[in-house]
Parts: sequence; C-alpha cells; structure tokens
Amino acid sequence: MKKNKTKSHFYIGKEIRSLRQERFDAIKNLDKKRMKYSWKKGAWSELLQCPDNYLLHELTLDKELIGFSLYLVEVKKPLSLHLLKVVLGEAWEGKGLARKMFEDLVEFYPKLEQIYLEVEAENTRAIGLYETTGFEKLRLLKKYYSDQSDALSMLWNRESRFDA
Ligand SMILES: CC(C)(COP(=O)(O)OP(=O)(O)OC[C@H]1O[C@@H](n2cnc3c(N)ncnc32)[C@H](O)[C@@H]1OP(=O)(O)O)[C@@H](O)C(=O)NCCC(=O)NCCS
Repeated sequence: MKKNKTKSHFYIGKEIRSLRQERFDAIKNLDKKRMKYSWKKGAWSELLQCPDNYLLHELTLDKELIGFSLYLVEVKKPLSLHLLKVVLGEAWEGKGLARKMFEDLVEFYPKLEQIYLEVEAENTRAIGLYETTGFEKLRLLKKYYSDQSDALSMLWNRESRFDA
C-alpha cells in the first residue's frame, strides 16, 4: 500500500450534505467500531442539520473509505478548528496515514491557523500522533468524560512544524 495512493476529500459546511448515504453510513460505522466515545444518532443528525459548523475529512483508497476526521469550525477566516475525532480503520493503523491526513489538511487550507483538541489522557497512541504532528499539550482536564476519565487538551498552531 502506497501512502500517496490515498486521497483526502474535504467537505465544509453545506458540502457535507452532498455525501451519499452509503458513504455517510460507512463513516458512522467506522466511528462506532473504533471510537470509545462514538456518536449517537442525535449527534449525526445535528451534523446534517447544522453543517455550517463542521468540516469533514475523508481518506479513501481506491474509492473505499479507510479513515475520516471531523472538526468543529470555530472561526472561518482565518480558519480555526476544534478536532472532534480522527479515526482509521483497524487494518490501516500504524502506516502513517493519520499523520498524512493532518499534512493534507494543512496543505489544502493554507489559511488554517490553529487546531484545538481534547483527547483521552490514556490514549497514548493518539497523543503520540498529535505530538509528532506538532500539537502541544495544554492541560489535564480531570474527569472530563461521562465515565470520569481524564482528558488532555492540546493545540496546534501553524508555526508548529511537522517532523520530517
Ligand atoms: C489514533 C489513530 C487515528 C492513529 O492513526 P495511525 O494512522 O495509526 O497513526 P500514524 O500511523 O499516522 O502515526 C503517527 C504518529 O503517531 C505516533 N504513534 C503511532 N502509534 C503509536 C503508539 N502506539 N504509541 C505512541 N505513539 C504512536 C507515532 O509518533 C507516529 O509517527 P511515526 O509514524 O513517525 O512514528 C488510530 O490509531 C485510530 O483510529 N484509533 C482509534 C480512534 C482514536 O482513538 N482516535 C483518536 C481520538 S479522536
């Protein structure tokens, strides 16, 4: 599998509604399978009802969905995002693809200024990914999640650099 054969597609605001039902279902399934705090039906409906608040990034290989990420758009110009989730199919983990997704995003949106996120404090894999893509740790958010797990907040600024 060559990383450069994967393709990033970005849907911002109302473009999200142009997604075919089949693709939308694949995104929801991946979320359910892979995310500890996966979204319930209501959250997905809210995404479709108020798409102006979101940016969706899909990663495909030969038109098949292999990963996606979802952001809240905090500020439009310059673009400032809040990462809600980034997910890779299990078979596609550990190949540098999530990192490539961040690189594609930054290239596609040259006006992107910052990305804020919260991540479960025990998700060392995701934290490792964020650190090597230039995110900096901000603070520990005690009992942040519904099951009382702690979160870590992190911030990426355009001045931060990707490791070569
Ligand atoms: C977290 C996740 C998106 C990472 O995707 P991935 O494609 O495997 O990540 P990459 O291969 O691009 O790894 C990028 C960097 O992360 C770090 N990393 C990867 N696996 C790691 C691990 N097990 N421990 C620590 N750091 C790790 C490495 O620094 C790696 O950089 P390198 O390849 O230069 O060494 C993926 O594991 C996933 O979908 N997990 C389930 C959903 C989830 O937890 N999402 C995050 C919270 S929203």
